[in-house]
Amino acid sequence: MKQIFAAILAIVFIVSLITVSFTYSQVENEEKRLESDIQYRSSLLAGSLKEAVEPNFINKSDIYLQDVVERFVDNQRIAGLAITDNKGTIVAVSSALPKKISEAEQVAVDVMDEGAANGSFVTVENMKMYVFASPLHDADKKSVVGSLIVVQNAGYIDTRLTDIWKDNLIRLSTQAALVSLAIFLVLRWIIFAPISNFMTSLKVNKKGVSYKNKGIINNPIFRPLFKEVADMQKNLIEARMAVTAHARVQLEKLDSPWTSERLTAFMGDVVKNRKIFVVSNREPYVHTKDGTKITYHTPASGMATAVEPIMQATGGTWIATGSGDADREVVDSNDRIAVPPNDPKYTLRRVWLTEEEEKGFYLGFSNEGLWPLCHMTHVRPIFRKENWEEYKNVNEKFAKTVLQEIKKEKNPIVFIQDFHFSLLPRLIREKRKDVTIGMFWHIPWPNPEAFSICPWRKELIDGMLGADIIGFHTQLHCNNFITTVGRELESLIDLEEFAVTKSGHTTHIKPFPISIAFSKDKVEKEELVAEDEESKRVLKSLGINSKYLALGVDRLDYTKGILERLKAVEIFLTNHKEFIGDFTFLQLSAPSRTSIKEYQDFNQKVQQEVDRINNSFKKNGWKPVVFLNKHHGHDVIYPLYRAADVCLVTPLHDGMNLVAKEFVASRNDEKGVLILSHFTGASRELIDALIINPYNAEATSDAIYEAITMKVSEQKRRMRRMRDLVRDNNVFRWSAQFFKSLVELG
Ligand code: F6P
Repeated sequence: MKQIFAAILAIVFIVSLITVSFTYSQVENEEKRLESDIQYRSSLLAGSLKEAVEPNFINKSDIYLQDVVERFVDNQRIAGLAITDNKGTIVAVSSALPKKISEAEQVAVDVMDEGAANGSFVTVENMKMYVFASPLHDADKKSVVGSLIVVQNAGYIDTRLTDIWKDNLIRLSTQAALVSLAIFLVLRWIIFAPISNFMTSLKVNKKGVSYKNKGIINNPIFRPLFKEVADMQKNLIEARMAVTAHARVQLEKLDSPWTSERLTAFMGDVVKNRKIFVVSNREPYVHTKDGTKITYHTPASGMATAVEPIMQATGGTWIATGSGDADREVVDSNDRIAVPPNDPKYTLRRVWLTEEEEKGFYLGFSNEGLWPLCHMTHVRPIFRKENWEEYKNVNEKFAKTVLQEIKKEKNPIVFIQDFHFSLLPRLIREKRKDVTIGMFWHIPWPNPEAFSICPWRKELIDGMLGADIIGFHTQLHCNNFITTVGRELESLIDLEEFAVTKSGHTTHIKPFPISIAFSKDKVEKEELVAEDEESKRVLKSLGINSKYLALGVDRLDYTKGILERLKAVEIFLTNHKEFIGDFTFLQLSAPSRTSIKEYQDFNQKVQQEVDRINNSFKKNGWKPVVFLNKHHGHDVIYPLYRAADVCLVTPLHDGMNLVAKEFVASRNDEKGVLILSHFTGASRELIDALIINPYNAEATSDAIYEAITMKVSEQKRRMRRMRDLVRDNNVFRWSAQFFKSLVELG
């Protein structure tokens, strides 16, 4: 609309400019015409009068002359006549003229001096007049004896000119109104409406739905353009269909390569028209305020990194806790928003938690209780009754939201993420028998002895057993879970099928090692050069110019082994002094769960360790550790992955750890070495990393030395194998395996 009004304004402005300049020139011409007309008439009159006055001017009395001037004033445009003697003094003047008109006398004097008739416009008593004077000669025409003055009313000239302006301006306004209306209609109906229809058709076709709009196709103005785009669209649809067909052929085998398109096609075949609903605590997009602007970012979460590409490929609804300070401002009246914000593919439904709920459910029970319970890092779990009540309450709140979202769906699929929602599978199952429920536990499951310290362990396990499938990253976690169930609940356990039957419902327990999208694979040489340049730029912006770079990327969490990593760096520099000044360890740490005391203390300890190590090694402006304690986007992390000689992934315990896989995926130059903790799920797959025990700082330090001094050919050999593995086992394949099992077993 804005553009339409701008176009109208511009056109009206141009039309006005043209009309005003035309009117101006018309007025000038008319003025000239009227002035020469008045001059002509005046000289004619003066000429005929002169014939009556001149021969007898000397002899006749003033009475005669007065009689002559009165007789000739018969026309309303003639304001009057006057006769002067040769000094310019008036000797006769018609009664309509004032007796003293000095302007006229001056004109008379001038013409007598020049000896030729002339005229000029003057203003008399606020009226415009034309004064024409002609010299009178004696009988032998030799000397000037006086002058004859003709005074005409010239006011009508201005009136006429004003009328022209008025008429033209009225015409202009009418034209402007009509032109505006016409432009509005033309733009709105002939240009904007077809373009908007066209956009709709493009959007619909992008989703793979055929949309034909006759109006667009037959529009004569846009037909050639639409035809071109339609051809392109057709090619795209054909390409998509080819991919789908290819995917179908490979459907049964689940073999690689897996792509977003293949997953979309696969889901169409396996899941059919059943809608998918993902539930997690952490949302995939967080909207925040930046001054008056609203921006968004993706959180530091392995779960979100893995599930987001699946949702983009399959569509559906993701239900999660709203956590950004601008989250409420961007949702619709049903708390929904289409995401990704720049290219919507699925719906994010936000659930709002009160401060009390967040404290008890998220910070308390989930992160002070279950998190340390499942990660064996020697941090005591804290279980408080009031936190358990909030955990139950929030699980019920999410159950209500899920039930509301799936109300109109037949046989929907609900995919629940992580330890925040142990009770949710059962709560949904109790209300809707037709739902297929999958649950994925993104963190480790401890041995039964460790788990038994949780006061509400039976309720938690029973809640989970409402699912059709519970997935873990590793077989070890599946084993731990099934033994825990055997220990805690009365149920039928089938160890061959790895399934638990309780209250007539069977739940299958299976390992699904999660992964990443691995979307960037082979790149052109120029692109590699550009990526290297970007890495250099980011390093420069961080003030890092050492010869060797070691990198750590984690949430600031005590499970990630950051203190142990720092110790290893210290030992490395102590044992290999030749690297002092040439080696930097860069630790990017996204602040996490900052209102929990354990995390605050941990943050402080890391900072103290960084300062201590830097103080003992720093020299000439160089320091060994750069610790950046803030959230970094992929745009910064990716170039740093590519710049690192070594990436340190050393958690004390971790379900999978996707940083390890992201590092491998980023190394399209096949260089760099991964040092990986034996206690991560990833270490089961990435066996070409240098696998270490993070509690053994000396061994980690040796691994740093080995990595830094490793031959490029050896780096490439290892990296190539790890890349092949992550490429083949990407998150699309993970998802296909999970959903295939879910649909078959659920
Ligand atoms: O990957 C495990 C996990 O707990 C996710 O569920 C979670 O999103 C991530 O770690 C980060 O933790 P948080 O969501 O508490 O910031």
